[in-house]
Amino acid sequence: MSKLRLEGKVALITGAASGIGAEAVRLFAKNGAFVVVADVQDELGHQVVVSIGADKVSYHHCDVRDEKQIEETVKYTLEKHGKLDVLFSNAGIIGPLTGILELDIRELDNTMATNVLGVAATIKHAARAMVAKSIRGSIICTTSVASSLGGTAPHAYTTSKHALVGLVRSACSELGAYGIRVNCISPFGIATPLSCRAYNLEPSEVEANSCALANLKGIVLKASHIAEAALFLASDESTYISGHNMAVDGGFTVVNHSFKAN
Ligand SMILES: NC(=O)c1ccc[n+]([C@@H]2O[C@H](COP(=O)([O-])OP(=O)(O)OC[C@H]3O[C@@H](n4cnc5c(N)ncnc54)[C@H](O)[C@@H]3O)[C@@H](O)[C@H]2O)c1
Repeated sequence: MSKLRLEGKVALITGAASGIGAEAVRLFAKNGAFVVVADVQDELGHQVVVSIGADKVSYHHCDVRDEKQIEETVKYTLEKHGKLDVLFSNAGIIGPLTGILELDIRELDNTMATNVLGVAATIKHAARAMVAKSIRGSIICTTSVASSLGGTAPHAYTTSKHALVGLVRSACSELGAYGIRVNCISPFGIATPLSCRAYNLEPSEVEANSCALANLKGIVLKASHIAEAALFLASDESTYISGHNMAVDGGFTVVNHSFKAN
């Protein structure tokens, strides 16, 4: 039997009650990890635990906008499992699609509080836990195709995801000294509650839009594809990859869509 890819590792995943985060919990646990599910949606978070099994997965309420709650969640993880090997800092929000001429500047503050400050605080406390126990850990954040392209999402969201790439590179530059890798994953559009709410669409409509805009045809991007990328970055298969913004977008961000050769 082949070895499980995260055998005995301990992972903390934020935004883990739904969408990409919940898929990652399932895949990490299936691959031998003990996972702490951190989110603000307590009922959904508990459902994720029940659907996988409380022997491998547990839930801890954590609003990433509150540094104290992040510190407590990391402390809970250490008390329960004795160490932290992997942080998947995935919680994020997206605000309304308003034009720059009508932009409510407070929307920037609101989005940055979760998508950047929240991630910075999770990196801080997870890295402290890894450094204290000399763990050569893996930190993964969820950015977006909006981290490298304008015009695909609301202004505040695009701003926050670009900033997040800067945070990942900056944290990578320091944490490499401890053997800790820091990467991010940049997904194209997937039908989750976040995208359905943002664009006021049904899941099937989000998927139809993504398929129509996609460069890679014949496949529907799902949360499980992002979970697979996170598993790779969390595992020992990626031991020399750090500071990378891994696009899981079927080539969307590197292709000129208006150019037709024939
Ligand atoms: N769905 C997409 O098309 C898409 C594309 C690119 C990037 N992303 C990114 O993927 C990540 C996950 O989103 P998703 O699509 O799975 O959406 P989702 O709505 O299914 O999941 C997001 C989760 O984050 C949680 N969350 C929000 N604010 C939080 C906070 N302050 N503290 C803790 N948890 C909080 C929510 O409760 C929810 O469970 C986000 O960072 C998002 O920006 C999504």
